[in-house]
Amino acid sequence: MNTTIDTTTLLKTATDVALETGALLKKGFGTSFKIANKEGRHNLVTEYDHAAEKLIFGRIRAAFPDHVMLGEESGGAVHTTPNTVRWIVDPLDGTVNFAHAIPIFCVSIGAEYINAEGIGEIVCGAIYAPMTDELFTGERGGGAFLNGHRLTVSHTDKLDDAILVTGFPYNADTNPGGCLDHFTRFVSMGIPVRRLGSAAIDLAYLAAGRFDGYWEVSLNPWDVAAGKLLLAEAGGTMTQYDGAPHDLMRGTMLASNGRIHGEMSAVLMR
Ligand code: IPD
Ligand code: CA
Ligand code: CA
Repeated sequence: MNTTIDTTTLLKTATDVALETGALLKKGFGTSFKIANKEGRHNLVTEYDHAAEKLIFGRIRAAFPDHVMLGEESGGAVHTTPNTVRWIVDPLDGTVNFAHAIPIFCVSIGAEYINAEGIGEIVCGAIYAPMTDELFTGERGGGAFLNGHRLTVSHTDKLDDAILVTGFPYNADTNPGGCLDHFTRFVSMGIPVRRLGSAAIDLAYLAAGRFDGYWEVSLNPWDVAAGKLLLAEAGGTMTQYDGAPHDLMRGTMLASNGRIHGEMSAVLMR
């Protein structure tokens, strides 16, 4: 593969496909559709998750036959191959909301360039929330945008003034990684904490300055890929809880406007 990556062309495809898929999801929203359980009683999958992923994979494969795909519903390229572009796709992020006719969900598409050493970097991302018609896009080095308007993270510099967001994995009842304790800690400090039910929207809102910080355990790469690029381009920070570099293939993530990162990390590591 040619190692000169044309991120603008990648982003154009990601955007077109996200908009097309969002329209499909919007059409299905609130109708009666098939809902099944994945592993775990509360982990749902609808026929729209599958239809959306099929549409996205088809469009991207047609545009870039030599790229590889990783999607929530069909899996794919879990391991990285040097000198490839890997598309990381959540066809419907916020499935539980969608299944209950709650209009908070999106499609999330990121493209990662994996270099000759096998190191990956997200180079573009598109997150589209069809019910609010909000398209978040970003390209490495080119900024992050909401419906064409440039995004920057918030300027809140004290945790005490912040509004945070989090999410919980489908096995939250077992308190993995202490997620329930972490939630209690922030809430007990009197800090407003939201739980929207869509990790990609959480990250897009953080990039847009609507939230100041976000933490979650057990995320999957498709929850984070596009949002990671948006956040970086909007000036935010993403690490593990202890401040170590974030790894897309590890679940734990602390993301913020950068200014309250240390204070959030201290609460999570307490
Ligand atoms: C879920 C959502 C939720 C997050 C979960 C994810 P799904 O993704 O992003 O906000 O808390 O960890 O699994 O199942 O709706 O694609
Ligand atoms: Ca997801
Ligand atoms: Ca999903």
